[in-house]
Amino acid sequence: MSQRFHRFLNFPLQIKKPNELGNKDEIDLFRGYFQELDPLDKFLKVNNLKILYVDYLNTPAFSSLPIHSDFDNNLEEGVNINISFGGPNSGIRWYTYNDPKAEKIVYTTKTNIKYRQFEKKLCKEVYRTHTNNLSLVNVAPPHDTYNYHNFNRWTIRTGVAKKHSNTLLTWNEAIKIFSNYIL
Ligand SMILES: [Fe+2]
Repeated sequence: MSQRFHRFLNFPLQIKKPNELGNKDEIDLFRGYFQELDPLDKFLKVNNLKILYVDYLNTPAFSSLPIHSDFDNNLEEGVNINISFGGPNSGIRWYTYNDPKAEKIVYTTKTNIKYRQFEKKLCKEVYRTHTNNLSLVNVAPPHDTYNYHNFNRWTIRTGVAKKHSNTLLTWNEAIKIFSNYIL
């Protein structure tokens, strides 16, 4: 497998869906920490890593989010560890594009997270997967979330760094560090 978008992880832990993540019929994104993340937090600490941030993203029923990079300036790599609570036909899709006009504005959300968006009709899908199990996710290349179910899909995404760093793990670092846990 050579794609640099996604891998499933079999960490020896389980993350339950926080009660706060309920039914919601609009897009939502917020940052915070719920105790259901404690098992992941502890596991990362034991491995000399740490959680930089945790975001919660809601994709409503029968919808998809705009194609975007999670960063405003780096389209190559930046890794999150994600888990979603959604139906089997929901997940993440990654895209490529040739026409520079595909790149749109960088905008800032209410949580001060900057994004770069892309024009869907100028992009071509190259990979898709569900993330209903713990996953290593490259959030820099253009991607969107989709949800073809009659219930909403929540994703917990965690930015992870080395113990004494404040920058996200790169794809290559994460593949090496988690080699024993990649399915
Ligand atoms: Fe994203």
